[in-house]
Amino acid sequence: MHSFSALSQLFEEKFNVRHFPTHTESLYDPAQYILGIGGKRIRPVCVLLANELFDEINPDAYHAAAAIELFHNFSLIHDDIMDKAPVRRGMQTVHVKYGESTALLAGDVMFVKAYENLNKIQPANLQKVLQLFNVTASQVCEGQQLDMDFEKRDTVSFEDYEKMITLKTSVLVAASLQLGAILGGAGGGNQNHLYKFGKNLGIAFQVQDDYLDAFGNPDKFGKQVGGDILANKKTFLLIHALEAASATAKKELLQLMIDNPADKVEKVLGIFKECKADAWAKELQQNYFTTALKHLEDVAVLSVRKKPLMELAEYLMVRES
Ligand code: IPE
Ligand code: IPE
Ligand code: MG
Ligand code: MG
Ligand code: MG
Repeated sequence: MHSFSALSQLFEEKFNVRHFPTHTESLYDPAQYILGIGGKRIRPVCVLLANELFDEINPDAYHAAAAIELFHNFSLIHDDIMDKAPVRRGMQTVHVKYGESTALLAGDVMFVKAYENLNKIQPANLQKVLQLFNVTASQVCEGQQLDMDFEKRDTVSFEDYEKMITLKTSVLVAASLQLGAILGGAGGGNQNHLYKFGKNLGIAFQVQDDYLDAFGNPDKFGKQVGGDILANKKTFLLIHALEAASATAKKELLQLMIDNPADKVEKVLGIFKECKADAWAKELQQNYFTTALKHLEDVAVLSVRKKPLMELAEYLMVRES
């Protein structure tokens, strides 16, 4: 059995190769660029961790893990275009460095490369794997569309926000765990509990992401702090502030979203702090985390085998990048 950090290293050794041909390099170098600038590799490690819960690692789990990380990076390239993000992993985003058209295509070929990896999986499991992967990939697109739709709305309910982050972020974490379980020969019950563990953990993960986007340390975060505020993202911070703020602060917040003044981030952060949105974030995150852990407890394997997944979950709650 491997620890979370040992598995991350194992995955990195296998994944840290050139995934694309040299020609046409103006297309493939940008795709290789984003893979080479880091990333926490959480989702592929989830595949491996869930797989190793049940037995020794099935070599097919590495193919599924690579496919998931390629899909994730594809989604990031397109997300950065949509969010007009200048920086990722402390480096220039693909569309800023290479242009938007190239970034779109680099994302597309990464999606194809994900399927090439899935195609290496033994036929006995392939249909189940593809079914889950395809449903999940479509859900991520749905979540991303809701995220964009919400930018244009004044207000969004907490339920709508939860649905949006479930789709854009948490189902991929959940599916990564379930894929590992499928390839580990797990039964339906265990697959289901791992999926729900991942779904709740994924929501807590996006809550932390939204929190860091507002309150993160710019030296550690690796992305533009305040980006969500600039883009009028309907994060739980904004939703909470619109509920908890005084009538004057609420009016100011809504006006800031229309006017986009130069000091917008500073002003919005001030209102967030007044409403104690940061403390609320921690409570919210803790609730999803607790639900996640209940599902992990219900997975019917010896609890000592679950330790690496616990380590991963705990790390995700305190991450700064
Ligand atoms: C970023 O995911 C996108 C979100 C769903 C918040 P990660 O924070 O896992 O990004 P990397 O791969 O580690 O850079
Ligand atoms: C992105 O959410 C989710 C996906 C890429 C599918 P965010 O837009 O919050 O992710 P970051 O903050 O840019 O990494
Ligand atoms: Mg983004
Ligand atoms: Mg986004
Ligand atoms: Mg974000």
